Amino acid sequence: MTYENLIVTNHGKVALITLNRPKALNALSPDLTRELGDALDVLEADNATAAVVLTGSEKAFAAGADIKAMKDWSYMDVYKSDFITATWERITKFRKPTIAAVAGYALGGGCELAMMCDFIIAADNAKFGQPEITIGTIPGAGGTQRLTRLVGKSKAMEMVLTGRMMDATEAERAGLVTRIVPLDELIPDALKTAQKIASMSLPITLMAKEAVNSAYEMTLNEGIHFERRLFHSTFATEDQKEGMNAFSEKRPPVFKDQ
Ligand code: HXC
Repeated sequence: MTYENLIVTNHGKVALITLNRPKALNALSPDLTRELGDALDVLEADNATAAVVLTGSEKAFAAGADIKAMKDWSYMDVYKSDFITATWERITKFRKPTIAAVAGYALGGGCELAMMCDFIIAADNAKFGQPEITIGTIPGAGGTQRLTRLVGKSKAMEMVLTGRMMDATEAERAGLVTRIVPLDELIPDALKTAQKIASMSLPITLMAKEAVNSAYEMTLNEGIHFERRLFHSTFATEDQKEGMNAFSEKRPPVFKDQ
């Protein structure tokens, strides 16, 4: 797969997507987000891929939507094209696990894109923010909703209203990122984590992801019911038999994704 604004490489069963517009700090132009949607379509269909890591450069994961591209758009331009929905949100429908490996700036749409992934691993130089208010707009790719769910109203409100950035330490303390690693260990660590996930049974992994995501969409009772039925359904898989037999026989499991 070759793209103008992305680099996609394979690492065993893990695909690494690197946002690659370094001169614009990976500003998320329409071309870039279209390519990202296309790459995810390919990786979703690819049986050799079981997880995805999304990253940027050491200076910027992504500094937001492309302000220079957006600045002259009219209301009708953004409304009629349903700006954002079609391409940006592709990753939220991606069924395989996704990890955002964030170094440097993750601002505006960059922070929103990272939050669309299943979890975020941050380098120690990461900075997160929703600075849209400073350029006369508001977050439009889920920032007001996902950030609030992740870090709570008080911190989300302050960040959205002032545009202030959070450093990696604050982001970890607030629950925005799962952990912080030194910058030079970010990609190796994210790939190792994704490879660990990719070593599990893929269908069981898809169920686990779907169950956790339902916690954001359902009441507690509905979510627990959904989880219980998925849990029951794992007993219809060969991989549940293999996993539990392997434990009993004191050997590593060999999952067949069945
Ligand atoms: C277009 C951008 C950009 C962006 C940076 N650049 N961010 N271009 N859109 N979002 C470009 C700069 O214009 C510049 O290009 C080059 O990248 C390097 O940026 P500098 O500003 O020179 O770097 P630095 O001084 O290190 O400052 C880094 C920065 C700053 C703090 C991240 O670039 C910045 O504030 N960027 C904008 C952040 C932002 O407001 N993001 C939210 C966007 S709105 P040239 O050609 O001049 O060298 C958004 C809405 C999402 O995301 C809603 C859903 C779609």
